[in-house]
Amino acid sequence: MNVLLIGGGGREHALAWAIAKSPRLARLFVAPGNPGTAMLGTNVAVDVANHAAIIALCRKEAIDLVVVGPEAPLVAGLADDLQGAGFPVFGPSKAAAQLEGSKDFTKQICAAAKAPTAHYATFTDQAAALAHLSEKGAPIVVKYDGLMAGKGVTVAATQAEAETAIRALYANEAGAKVVLEEMLVGEEASFFCFVDGETIVPLGSAQDHKRVFDGDEGPNTGGMGAYSPAPVVSETVEKTAIEAIVAPTMREMVRRGMPFRGILFAGLMIGPEGPKLIEYNCRFGDPECQVLMLRLETDLLDILEATAKGRLREIDVRLKLLCAVGVVMAAKGYPGDYPKGSVIGGLEAAGAMPGAIVFHAGTSARDGRVTANGGRVLTICATGDDLPQARRRAYDAVAKIDWPEGFCRSDIGAKGLARLGKS
Ligand code: AMP
Ligand code: GLY
Repeated sequence: MNVLLIGGGGREHALAWAIAKSPRLARLFVAPGNPGTAMLGTNVAVDVANHAAIIALCRKEAIDLVVVGPEAPLVAGLADDLQGAGFPVFGPSKAAAQLEGSKDFTKQICAAAKAPTAHYATFTDQAAALAHLSEKGAPIVVKYDGLMAGKGVTVAATQAEAETAIRALYANEAGAKVVLEEMLVGEEASFFCFVDGETIVPLGSAQDHKRVFDGDEGPNTGGMGAYSPAPVVSETVEKTAIEAIVAPTMREMVRRGMPFRGILFAGLMIGPEGPKLIEYNCRFGDPECQVLMLRLETDLLDILEATAKGRLREIDVRLKLLCAVGVVMAAKGYPGDYPKGSVIGGLEAAGAMPGAIVFHAGTSARDGRVTANGGRVLTICATGDDLPQARRRAYDAVAKIDWPEGFCRSDIGAKGLARLGKS
């Protein structure tokens, strides 16, 4: 099979790594890719927003399957355009990608499916939103309805904080759709299922670390590290998440004529009443994908193709009974401003450590040197027989990286250790 993978982050390096292991792969193209994916396939400098150019590339290279990593192209309808041109796609249609592209849409689907989630109200008018805030008080969560690169959510501890967030969203866009919702309490985890419209096949769980500093301090980021499995997602939690949340919402999508096809990423809050849905994403998480790919036993290409072609029923998705930990190394300053161009050493030494693998994200390579070219730059991952071993190995590999301009959190996986009584 000739495969085109869309994206260029750590998630896509991990997907490329897993796809490249398949004996069924002929050629792999990645658009735009990164120096990590360049070691596994051919990077193509094509504008992902230019759907006609992507279709032309698929024709030229006789692509058999397109795999879309990030959400933006899905929300923009890339899967629809490719399918219209006759190319099978792993990733949902524009209509189904509303599960990530519109928080109000997902809330409506949850309501129709009676899936447990935070109580909410949606506004397109600042005065009405502020009136609702006065009535409900704090804590409260303020969300921009659409995609905002992880910056659209404020979990407000005080009414003043919520008011500032609401005013900022309306100052940015008059008439903005804003969702105000109840603050859920508990422990957060990510749960992933392959869905081909009708059939739901669970992949597994992971836990991200969204805040930039140790102990969940500082501003939100795209994710500073992950580990899998997440002990908080017990068998009971997983069963409830599928039966009460994933299955009824996926049925509702089918009922509305917009079946979801791809990987469904459920952000769960696991509290005293069981799991509740915080949000859906219509793609793999980054860095959750990196740790899940390290545990995947089944041929990823088989799963992606079966999902794209509605044959998921035929596939047995299995994870290895290993733990995996991924530590993100970011440029100092991230998620704010940061300089680019610093040289990163020790990549080979890190990748040669027991159980370790280094996935690239915001790097660039020239004249045999790798430099930092983004905020989240590397995900240093390792597997182990248990979480303590995987964690030790990941941090042993991190220690081999020579990059004074970078930093990472030192407590990735600590919550899992605490839950296992091993902290
Ligand atoms: P999102 O951009 O939707 O991923 O939200 C970012 C983060 O905000 C989530 O990962 C949660 O940590 C937090 N969050 C969102 N909604 C809620 C909620 N209703 N209750 C508590 N925390 C929330
Ligand atoms: N790591 C969280 C996300 O990919 O949205």
